[in-house]
Amino acid sequence: MNRLVVVSNRVADLKRSTQAGGLAVGLADSLRSRGGVWMGWDGQTLKYEEEPEPRIQRIGDVTQATIPLTEQDYVEYYLGFANRVLWPLFHYRLDLVEYKTAFLEGYRRVNAKFANALTSVLQPDDVIWIHDYHLIPLAAELRQRGCQQRIGFFLHIPFPPPEILAAVPRHRWLVESLLEFDVVGFQTNTDLGNLHHYVEDHLGCEIKSDGRIDLGTREVIGGCFPIGIDVDSFVGMAEQPNEEVQIEMKRREILGRRQVIGVDRLDYTKGLPDRLRAFARLLELYPEMRKSVALMQIATPTREELEAYIDIRKELEALSGEINGRFADFNWTPVRYIHGTVPRDALAALFRASQVGFVTPLRDGMNLVAKEYVAAQAMDDPGVLVLSKFAGAAEDMREALIVNPYDVDDMARNLCRALTMPLAERQDRQKALMERIREHDSAYWLSTFMAALEDGKTKETA
Ligand code: G6P
Repeated sequence: MNRLVVVSNRVADLKRSTQAGGLAVGLADSLRSRGGVWMGWDGQTLKYEEEPEPRIQRIGDVTQATIPLTEQDYVEYYLGFANRVLWPLFHYRLDLVEYKTAFLEGYRRVNAKFANALTSVLQPDDVIWIHDYHLIPLAAELRQRGCQQRIGFFLHIPFPPPEILAAVPRHRWLVESLLEFDVVGFQTNTDLGNLHHYVEDHLGCEIKSDGRIDLGTREVIGGCFPIGIDVDSFVGMAEQPNEEVQIEMKRREILGRRQVIGVDRLDYTKGLPDRLRAFARLLELYPEMRKSVALMQIATPTREELEAYIDIRKELEALSGEINGRFADFNWTPVRYIHGTVPRDALAALFRASQVGFVTPLRDGMNLVAKEYVAAQAMDDPGVLVLSKFAGAAEDMREALIVNPYDVDDMARNLCRALTMPLAERQDRQKALMERIREHDSAYWLSTFMAALEDGKTKETA
């Protein structure tokens, strides 16, 4: 087996597990099982003239190689091109895109830095797997440095339709950079279809029946590889609630209260304000629900220097205060809004103790929280997943209650349906969802992507 070298902007802290969902979790689950090298930014900004050598650290079977960035890199590449241009653009939010030439320059500069650092750790038989929107030009940079190894790319976030993509300057360069990879993977068929439309319409390339993109001189494999979780390890965590969670569960049991749970990075793509409004609407439309159910929303801070994130935080704090002011009683708080990070094992137990998982992004690559919620449920008395139709997970998780995250009434009605769903129906849905997340778990994600990258196999040719 060839050594796997994974590259992403952030590397997870493999010694601790504090995150829920997201790239770091999906990748950590896969890399732990295969071993290899994981390269990325160490999260630090330092002053330096000469690029430092990557810092090497061995954790189990994974070698982490990390580099710092400069303050200018952080501003132009990370806050700038990655999170003020590509993030909103790829989530269909043209209104939030702030393009500047300096951002693009920073993006290219940091990709070149990643390529330099990577070149110093690469071995001839490595296979390279690059992740997410921060690193689209990295294959081209590596090829310029003589890199011959197979290079794959996986996009964790959505890929927008050509009409949206074409609004950003240098969109053609961006897609041409993508086509420098040997394999380009997406979360859903919709995302893959969007790339196909772009290359047909803007580049005049032909798409072959097995999904390969014919560039004339070479072919690129484009595929759909839905990311998954390590189901058994999450089930294990959910089955062992710590003492604090147990006490909390007892308290709710005595009071006969149910819990709806949402866990997200505090991002404007997650649909959080309308989610809170939908919960308030539930209390309005079905007054009998008052005092019998509460919403726990955990929102993990992220990209806090950016205006759009400052705004969403303010909006949510105001909204949760408003809803509590309107409905709370001396012994019942309808919304528990937590601005912070909860360890993944505690989350697993909290998911199991919640009757509804409320996952309503306006647009999301996959959303692993939806899969984690299902994995955490007790099969004999499971909760119900209420899921946005715009999460990549909805393509696969059809037995969830699928909602439109822009329609507050629709979400409120489905919340009520979830909270009153008969046991047999909950069990049937849970069984089907559990089969699906087991089928498309982290091992499947890794093996199907690797089959494409190492052996050129796609679902159609396997
Ligand atoms: C999403 C992106 C990841 C990113 C993560 C955290 O899941 O797809 O690439 O690492 O958010 O965002 P941050 O900006 O804090 O790294």
